[in-house]
Amino acid sequence: MVAELTVNLGQRSYRIICGPGLLEQAGVLLAELKLSRRCLIVTNPVVGPLYAPRVEESLAGAGFNPKVVTVPEGEEAKTLAVAARLYDAALEAGLDRGSAVIALGGGVVGDVAGFVAATLLRGVPFIQLPTTLLAQVDASVGGKVAVNHPLGKNLIGAFYQPRLVAADLATLRTLPPREVRAGLAEVIKYGVIAEADFFAYLENNLEAALNLDPAVLTEIVYRSCRIKARVVEADERESGLRAILNFGHTVGHALEALTGFKELHHGEGVAIGMVAASRLAQRRGWLQAGEVGRLIDLLKRAGLPVEMPSLDRGALLTAIGRDKKIKDGTLHMVLPRSIGKVEVVPVGLKELEAVLA
Ligand SMILES: NC(=O)c1ccc[n+]([C@@H]2O[C@H](COP(=O)([O-])OP(=O)(O)OC[C@H]3O[C@@H](n4cnc5c(N)ncnc54)[C@H](O)[C@@H]3O)[C@@H](O)[C@H]2O)c1
Ligand SMILES: [Zn+2]
Repeated sequence: MVAELTVNLGQRSYRIICGPGLLEQAGVLLAELKLSRRCLIVTNPVVGPLYAPRVEESLAGAGFNPKVVTVPEGEEAKTLAVAARLYDAALEAGLDRGSAVIALGGGVVGDVAGFVAATLLRGVPFIQLPTTLLAQVDASVGGKVAVNHPLGKNLIGAFYQPRLVAADLATLRTLPPREVRAGLAEVIKYGVIAEADFFAYLENNLEAALNLDPAVLTEIVYRSCRIKARVVEADERESGLRAILNFGHTVGHALEALTGFKELHHGEGVAIGMVAASRLAQRRGWLQAGEVGRLIDLLKRAGLPVEMPSLDRGALLTAIGRDKKIKDGTLHMVLPRSIGKVEVVPVGLKELEAVLA
């Protein structure tokens, strides 16, 4: 029940492996990469106690000398101060240019550990062992690494591809259900932007996914990673196509920002944002009412919100206006032509107001 694919980026190509029980194989998998013996495992206070010992043991068994470092829980870990602590730990442990920095955790741990890997000694091998569904289908793939700035999220970062992504699907058993549902929002997004038959697969298997059925999870993580990989291969540094990954994110980000990044989970904002973008597409005569209905039904079955929360519409439009996806003063959004096909197009304020009302 292990699936695998390659992200083809020339010399920066790497394997993505997904399936249950991969943490126990971390040593064997890393041994193939010809790394130095010393390595750093970056984790957090939730994930570390659950999973770091088995990764350490596996690495030690393969001849590695791992050191575990813990960063704070939550988004607070994505700061330069935390990165500085990781540099200290890495250098004190004697890491060299062939030593791996290994991210064991969700997207937060992956982003800060990746930022450190990208900059330490001008770049050391970076390994992703993602433990949330969101990190397995999205954050661990594609090479965006970053920390936050007081003025905004992910403002200090780089494109730095990992050398390997190994997504152990068994780790999802301890993930809070709300986090599983939030990850499913991004999974559903992939169906809409790229593969109608993947969307149909999700319609047929959603309950099994929520129950963490291993075969269904393997299929879902594999196909999501394959879609993201193909987009990243075509546009590694986000100069064009990669923008389609932002489907649902323009409105989603604004909702997150307005609710102070607390009440609304990222995936929940994206779910509402996908519905808003789809309604906009329907107004243009692109998407059929039935297709919008299918999206709403699937999101609801995944336990995700689909209705706009009661917020000041003016404030929402202002927040959308601040979105960094604005090019030359014109808002661009990802709108579906049909389920499985999207386009990035300029959107007028009037149209947007109409669907947010
Ligand atoms: N680099 C990218 O391309 C990219 C893409 C999407 C998101 N991101 C970033 O990812 C971050 C969000 O990632 P996330 O949703 O994984 O959040 P997260 O890393 O904060 O993890 C969510 C919660 O689950 C806990 N957790 C993680 N794995 C667990 C497990 N197996 N069992 C129990 N608890 C577990 C964490 O401690 C945390 O409380 C954001 O900072 C976002 O900017 C990056
Ligand atoms: Zn997202």
